[in-house]
Amino acid sequence: MAHDAIAVVDFGGQYAHLIATKVRRLNVRADILQPEDPIERFRSYAGIILSGSPSLSSHGEDSAYTKEIYDLDVPILGFCFGHQEIAKHYGGTVVHGGREWGHADLHLTREHPLFAGLGPVQTVWMSHFDSVTSVGPEFEELGYSALGEGAEPHRFAAIGSDSLRRYGFQFHAEVDATENGDAMIGNFVRGICGASPTWTLERYLEEQEDAIRQHVGDRSVFLLASGGVDSTVAALVLRRALGPGRVALLHVDNGLMRKGESQRVLEMLRDLGLGERLHFVDASADFLAALDGLTEPEAKRKAIGDTFVEVFDREAVRLGLTDHLLGQGTIYPDTIETGGTKRSDTIKTHHNRVPIIEQLIAEGKVVEPLAELYKVEVRELGAKLGVPHEALWRHPFPGPGLGVRLLCSDGSGSPTDALTGPVAALGRELGVDARPLPIKSVGVKADLRCYEHPVLLVGDQPFDDLCRAGSTLAAKLDGINRCLWWLGGEPPGEARPASGYMTRERLDLLREADAIVMGALRRHGVYDDVWQCPTVLVPLSVDGEGRELVIVRPVLSVRAMTARPAALPEAVLREIRDAILALPGVSGLAYDLTSKPPGTIEWE
Ligand code: XMP
Repeated sequence: MAHDAIAVVDFGGQYAHLIATKVRRLNVRADILQPEDPIERFRSYAGIILSGSPSLSSHGEDSAYTKEIYDLDVPILGFCFGHQEIAKHYGGTVVHGGREWGHADLHLTREHPLFAGLGPVQTVWMSHFDSVTSVGPEFEELGYSALGEGAEPHRFAAIGSDSLRRYGFQFHAEVDATENGDAMIGNFVRGICGASPTWTLERYLEEQEDAIRQHVGDRSVFLLASGGVDSTVAALVLRRALGPGRVALLHVDNGLMRKGESQRVLEMLRDLGLGERLHFVDASADFLAALDGLTEPEAKRKAIGDTFVEVFDREAVRLGLTDHLLGQGTIYPDTIETGGTKRSDTIKTHHNRVPIIEQLIAEGKVVEPLAELYKVEVRELGAKLGVPHEALWRHPFPGPGLGVRLLCSDGSGSPTDALTGPVAALGRELGVDARPLPIKSVGVKADLRCYEHPVLLVGDQPFDDLCRAGSTLAAKLDGINRCLWWLGGEPPGEARPASGYMTRERLDLLREADAIVMGALRRHGVYDDVWQCPTVLVPLSVDGEGRELVIVRPVLSVRAMTARPAALPEAVLREIRDAILALPGVSGLAYDLTSKPPGTIEWE
């Protein structure tokens, strides 16, 4: 059956693929196209959406794309960079400035079919350095944005030309943080483009099974099964496509797992009927050796990814499975955040996207049945395949495990001299005691990786006020991408960098702290309310005795591409605080209040 479809042009923004997912949620097929694809490829679509980008439209970056799309008689909608390109193409101006991060209010200037069914003020999500300052003669402003009462408006947050059927949003309608983004995309796709709803997840599954059978031929697949929902659902899809005899599973204990986790994972896989060709190896010594002495986040990630491949190869030889293809439960964010589409910036290298694996992919030796999907779609698929609720809704746990939650340092730290004054001054203006910390963590700003300092807030203001102050500090000050709230009890002394590497002792300490946090969430019945709650151990001493700082990071999210800090109930916090501060080796506890962007969910 032919589908009406939408072309999504991937300029490399972190959310390009999310646009396609949102369109598919409307049961309309969406295909990702590259900006330089020949115009013929665009002709059959009912509409086109241009994504955001890490490039700057104001500087003319990435401007050599197939501009003939503007001659096609189909509606076009652009987000962020796409919006700016549309404005420019039709005689408007784009300048470097007017940046916004996070939530803003969109004030609509009039009723319009793009916003059909929605009120005059909409909560939207912004992440940009450039902005549109004027539009061409055939365009009008459909909305402007502002943050809070009486704030200076940012003009041209939504623009359009009904005669040309060209529209642009400075905000990201595709992220869940834009409250009615789905409705806006629906109004464009189903209303303005008139696309009919014929695509379903069941049909996608059938298409994937056919594709797997074709790719694998008469060979078999050997899959790394971490116990997470992604690799578990991937195993079930492969088994459906190929039959149980042709799918072997390997669970590796990399020494970076949670307390007691490998045992639980093996039981769960057996309960799902995946026990027939299930193998296990304790490779913690290999991983610790590979991580010995490393401190830089990307170096750690690469070491973990490479060791997975080495262990996998060794086990394949030991088990006589070297002729098998490699199966992985890779989902879409793993690819996009590794810079895996042509233009996207590397935010972090996911363990299943290290160069050796890229090489195997190029040779056609990797099978990834979920590579196009987001976590919510994987869960939906898992439910259809009979995975029980408990296994489907386990918090996501990254492949490199506690390796990205145990920060390492040679003790020299990252000086904050230039930041201390501005942070304290802006903090005073916002009514909080704020200080930068001499360490760095990974984040994402305007689609680009950043590696910057957290600020620590000390005070007893309400949670939302602290979150707002933290967002403002990260938005206004270069060099700040995270905001922490001190939970340690006594006001902290000066935070001094300490030395700390990836050792069994530090991992065991982090495992204990993590088990305390997970236990408290479960006991108080709030485990299912948060998306994920990493516990992080940071080589910073706040008591002058060299003991380390623990950070809890509860977040709310739907697809992990954006996230908000989750407010934990006071009783949970009290329990966590008492138990963690009683651990030998811990000198303080802080709560990560950072949204994504500008922070990422994991610290590295
Ligand atoms: P970030 O930290 O980029 O994480 O906001 C987004 C989501 O991805 C998970 N994550 C990973 N998952 N391999 C994985 O399988 C990885 O290397 C990896 N790094 C981050 C993270 O836990 C969150 O759910």
